[in-house]
Amino acid sequence: MRVLLLGPPGAGKGTQAKLLKEQFGACQVSTGDILRRAAAERSPLGEKAAALMAKGELVPDGLMIDLVAERLRGDDCLAGFILDGFPRTLDQAEGLEAILEAMGSGLDCVFSIWVPHNVIILRLEGRRSCKTCGALYHLVSQPPRRIGVCDRCGGELYQREDDRVETIRARLRVYEAQTAPLVDYYRKKGLLKEIDGVGSVEEIRCRMLLALGEVGT
Ligand code: AP5
Repeated sequence: MRVLLLGPPGAGKGTQAKLLKEQFGACQVSTGDILRRAAAERSPLGEKAAALMAKGELVPDGLMIDLVAERLRGDDCLAGFILDGFPRTLDQAEGLEAILEAMGSGLDCVFSIWVPHNVIILRLEGRRSCKTCGALYHLVSQPPRRIGVCDRCGGELYQREDDRVETIRARLRVYEAQTAPLVDYYRKKGLLKEIDGVGSVEEIRCRMLLALGEVGT
């Protein structure tokens, strides 16, 4: 499986990418997670990315395309991949096409998950992530058993710096201006599957499997 998840911040891309990864054994390539790791390690890329992420702005296309090209060459991506958070601009989409062409590969489908802005804000304000294993929680819809502690690994849960209301609004503006045009781009290529992202995590998962023709698996 070689799929791509498009959608505004908080649409549930990361949540669904993890479920697809578990079900299909494909690797999850989350550019947001890669950049946050680089920022935590204070690498040169991380230092640059951290400042942009804190403002809700995008990291330059050239850096992102190189980073994804290297990641997709990893052995763990041979069985397939789920791209979560890339591409985010037309230049990145064209960069991805060139990367896949050079690998003799292509995309099977592109999911576009849509959720209204008021729901997004509630989701992101309540999101908590595990510092150790990256598991995702929501204070209301998917709370951990113990406050502040990851159910899976016991790691510490934290709130992302860019999940403050003002930064969420900036990220939504960036999405509409730079990423939303990709919906049409992939529709014209016949790859797009539009998913209503409002509902439970399980309902959205079922909608995606239905769209893939994988119901009952
Ligand atoms: P990134 O980490 O990719 O953030 P994002 O795209 O803004 O998406 P989010 O991770 O916020 O949301 P999501 O859709 O994954 O939702 P989630 O599943 O977590 O990027 C961060 C930054 O990095 C960017 O702003 C940019 O600066 C930089 N960057 C990254 N990629 C880049 C690129 N390609 N180019 C340039 N810059 C780049 O769910 C959210 C919450 O909702 C969770 O709490 C979850 O538990 C809950 N939830 C999920 N589904 C449901 C449901 N169905 N019902 C109820 N709650 C739900």
